[in-house]
Amino acid sequence: MIDLHTHLLPGIDDGVKSLDEAVKIIKSGVSMGVTAICLTPHLLSNFRGCNPGAIMETYSMLQNKIIQEEIDVHLYLGSEIDLRDDLNPLREFSFFFINQTKKYLLLELPLGEIPAFTEKIIFSLIVENLYPILAHPERSLTKDKDFERIEKMARSGALIQLNAGSITGDFGKKVQKVSEKLLEKDIVDFVASDTHNLNSRPIIVMAEAFRIIERLLGEQKAMKLFKENPQKVLQAENIQRKIPLKYS
Ligand SMILES: [Fe+2]
Repeated sequence: MIDLHTHLLPGIDDGVKSLDEAVKIIKSGVSMGVTAICLTPHLLSNFRGCNPGAIMETYSMLQNKIIQEEIDVHLYLGSEIDLRDDLNPLREFSFFFINQTKKYLLLELPLGEIPAFTEKIIFSLIVENLYPILAHPERSLTKDKDFERIEKMARSGALIQLNAGSITGDFGKKVQKVSEKLLEKDIVDFVASDTHNLNSRPIIVMAEAFRIIERLLGEQKAMKLFKENPQKVLQAENIQRKIPLKYS
């Protein structure tokens, strides 16, 4: 499995507090089949997410620790971008895109109300052949109208990432139901842990979510959501979907 969405850079955001904690979480992921992890600190938030120096320094510290401890995992860098009405000032950051792909970026909608400018931002990225991956939209969907908006965004080219914990019911029944509905509509592209620490949204939930999706939709679909699609993102390759994306 490949985990595209994690908060494992110590002290950078509301994720792990120490290097030891990050290593413990990574080891637990590796023990149940995670082979690659993308670190996605919150960008443009109240944390240190807009401090490129701190992010790069912490990333290389974690990389070194992984090598030192001979942990069999590949680390990549990206960010979880808080949705704003203008993302252009952030483009200069090397971690704006996932693994510097210049193609895929992880975009977080606010919990609660989805702002009116959301479609404008998403469509403006898509016309540039940039593909926003909406981070856990199932957690923001409280109204039917919002569900339709997300569905339309997905059909226009936005990619959808569900949290593993949403599938297992860790965010409550309502979020679990919305997740199932998105899966039924076949507009989900990835499942990731969004792990923040050893207790909150642990990376090991990935294995449980994989089994649920395997049971509901088959092994092939589970492999696509947990491995093949994330792999394509990391390598900046095109993703095959029933609803085609308009790649140039
Ligand atoms: Fe996150």
